[in-house]
Amino acid sequence: MSSVKAMAKDHLSAIKAAEDDAALEDIRVSLLGKKGTISELMKTLGKMSPEERQEKGPLYNGLRSAVADAIAARKQDFHEAALDARLVSEKIDVTLPVRPQGQGTIHPITQVTDEITAIFADMGFAVAEGPDIETDYYNFTALNFPEGHPAREMHDTFYMTPDEAGARKVLRTHTSPVQIRTLQAQKPPVRVIIPGRTYRCDSDQTHTPMFHQVEGLAIDKSTTMGELKWTLEQFCKAFFEVEQVQMRFRPSFFPFTEPSMEVDIRCDRSGGELKIGQGDDWMEILGCGMVHPNVLRNVDLDPDVYQGWAFGMGIDRLAMLKYGIPDLRDFFAADLRWLRHYGFAALEMPNLATGLSR
Ligand code: DAH
Repeated sequence: MSSVKAMAKDHLSAIKAAEDDAALEDIRVSLLGKKGTISELMKTLGKMSPEERQEKGPLYNGLRSAVADAIAARKQDFHEAALDARLVSEKIDVTLPVRPQGQGTIHPITQVTDEITAIFADMGFAVAEGPDIETDYYNFTALNFPEGHPAREMHDTFYMTPDEAGARKVLRTHTSPVQIRTLQAQKPPVRVIIPGRTYRCDSDQTHTPMFHQVEGLAIDKSTTMGELKWTLEQFCKAFFEVEQVQMRFRPSFFPFTEPSMEVDIRCDRSGGELKIGQGDDWMEILGCGMVHPNVLRNVDLDPDVYQGWAFGMGIDRLAMLKYGIPDLRDFFAADLRWLRHYGFAALEMPNLATGLSR
């Protein structure tokens, strides 16, 4: 094989092997650039005898145009590959139905969660969150539910399959385990609300297996039950958007608070419409109390130094009450007619300045 043929073979296979534009450009410069191998070869033609030139000229010219053509072809390959990749990544299925414009609404649960968050944020509370799948420790033990204590049976718990060690995780039955997670992660003073999904094996007009709670927690060196009552009263007035609410605190039991209370608000059910803040009826809306010393000990806080209060309430229930929604199960039926009727305008965050539920 003549040396020109051998050169052509080497160059063409190098061009084929180039992986990208940059590598190809390097090859082009090294061969066809001002000081490139082929350009240097062309210069030697000038110093040749006419006979020799007649023989080598066509060979060298052929070499140069073969290399130039191969580079152009390889460039085209890259261009096509890039275009193919882009077409695949930008593919849209034009047979899908057109998305209706401006028909999306905010679900009442989201709306009420945002309203609650706005009210408590205004009072200096941060938002904390935790996992839906919890260990028995966080859901019960750390919250002062002793092993085998009947209070564990108060919640119709969903248990996961036990792991190799026999430990069963649970779908959290309340948002209270996030009290523990929060106090493990940050030092007092702590003021948080904890909205989230919760689960119990229960289903009727006012219960669904998945529902929503919001927890409140305040821990400091001096926190009082008066503060708890005032905070809840401010919340109820702001949430129900009324001037006055009357609240009734009844003694109750929760393992993680001492004393524990359930709170009712005065309401009027006569005439088929529920009115908050007036009338002769009472309606239970939440549970609360002073954080039990054992809970503080479980997160290494000294109950002689720190104390706190907590509360928990059902978001779904608050949404039903405020917006007159009769059946909880409809919340999760994904029925567009229901969503259009009870949904809220998108892009309007509830806030205390312009009104919560406009
Ligand atoms: N975790 C309780 C429940 O699900 C609600 C509750 C009551 C939370 C009292 C609290 C509290 O933080 O202090 O029934």
